[in-house]
Amino acid sequence: MTLDFGFASFADKRDLLDRSAAAWNADKTGFWERMGVPIVIGERSGYELVDVDGHRLIDVHLNGGTYNLGHRNPELVEVLKDALDHFDMGNHHFASPARTALAERLVELTGPQMRRVAFGTSGSEAIDLAIKVARRATGRRKIVSIVKAYHGHSGLAVATGDARYSVPFLSDRPDEFVQVPFNDLPAMEEALAGADVAGVLMETIPATYGFPLPAPGYLAAVAELAHESGALYIADEVQTGLGRTGVLWGISKTDVVPDVLVTAKGLGGGLYPISAVVMNEPTSRWLDEDGFSHMSTAGGAELGSIAALGVLEITTRPQVQEQVHALSIQFDVGLSQLRARHEGWFTGIRQDGLVIGLELADPQGAMHLTRALYAEGVWAIFSSLDPSVLQFKPGLLLEPEQVDEILHRLDRALAVAQAAAASGTATVPSIHPHGEPAEVAA
Ligand SMILES: Cc1ncc(COP(=O)(O)O)c(C=O)c1O
Repeated sequence: MTLDFGFASFADKRDLLDRSAAAWNADKTGFWERMGVPIVIGERSGYELVDVDGHRLIDVHLNGGTYNLGHRNPELVEVLKDALDHFDMGNHHFASPARTALAERLVELTGPQMRRVAFGTSGSEAIDLAIKVARRATGRRKIVSIVKAYHGHSGLAVATGDARYSVPFLSDRPDEFVQVPFNDLPAMEEALAGADVAGVLMETIPATYGFPLPAPGYLAAVAELAHESGALYIADEVQTGLGRTGVLWGISKTDVVPDVLVTAKGLGGGLYPISAVVMNEPTSRWLDEDGFSHMSTAGGAELGSIAALGVLEITTRPQVQEQVHALSIQFDVGLSQLRARHEGWFTGIRQDGLVIGLELADPQGAMHLTRALYAEGVWAIFSSLDPSVLQFKPGLLLEPEQVDEILHRLDRALAVAQAAAASGTATVPSIHPHGEPAEVAA
């Protein structure tokens, strides 16, 4: 069946995948085929994706929260359509109504210590800027993050994360970027002992590591240690922010008062890329002194700012926060029941609101589960830095019946994935190709 999109046409899905591999990313396109998850998203709305081959999927990945409010959220689509009658990206050099309004709103929503906002297009760009402002404010260079951290792929962000992403591009910088194990306060204390650290960069719940939950008091103790040593606390709220834990920022559930907070992904409602760095007074001083020292042509674009104002308006509605609370309880109860039914295989649940990680008994268990869920019509992704854990990120606006359906499909997929992992013959492709065989047995 010809796939004709108007702007391009393909003989069929096979042709599309082949041309994608040839012109775009051969390894990635091939990986998903080997995984048995050859998704090519066609129509999308709410929490449903329809593959160009007709396969329907409930999206429980949401691209890390990009689609918290659903795909093509009708209210946000209207906001953007209206905005297109009057605005474009704008010019990043000048004051603009949309950018100003968004900056004011973010400051207001983030905390009394916050003063200003600088904008980017992506999480990585915002993390790079957060590191730059921490360095400028402290006059120090070193950044501490956690082992298996993931904060993006641009120059500074990638150096804060796992070697799996920095080393292939010779972008690791061990002398400036130090990693310590998560939930290990003595290691953090040691890393900060030299009083030479500019910032501690922490995701409130590390997503790509599979959402291990911070031990009670851990993040507050990290912030205290950081501040005692003259370092700043940078909260990466790219995945845990925007309502997912039941409040706007996950970090506000702790006693941490961050110096810098980074948000991205869902900020543009999945319709227009935008990211933001919210800064307190000392870290924003460069904007009084030398505002031209950092620029981003598309960062804080006016259309993106308008979309983001819409996202914040919806996300902070009391009824949305109540809905997230109710959904969290429904998942808590339902997942606990599934865990009991699949005892010994489905070994643990990491949950804070709608930030959820499902632990499986096999080192690649979540890869088998991703595959089995796809067959059941659910898209959820394994944690790439710990594929024993499935990242499970349901939408903030799901209906209770949709939750029941997701749990029902998960029940069946858990059984299929367990059998596949136990068979010894089902293989999942390697996600760490460097120095490892291309395909590894389960
Ligand atoms: C916690 C976290 N920080 C930063 C980023 C980088 O965001 P982006 O992919 O928009 O550059 C990501 C991306 O997944 C992320 O999960």
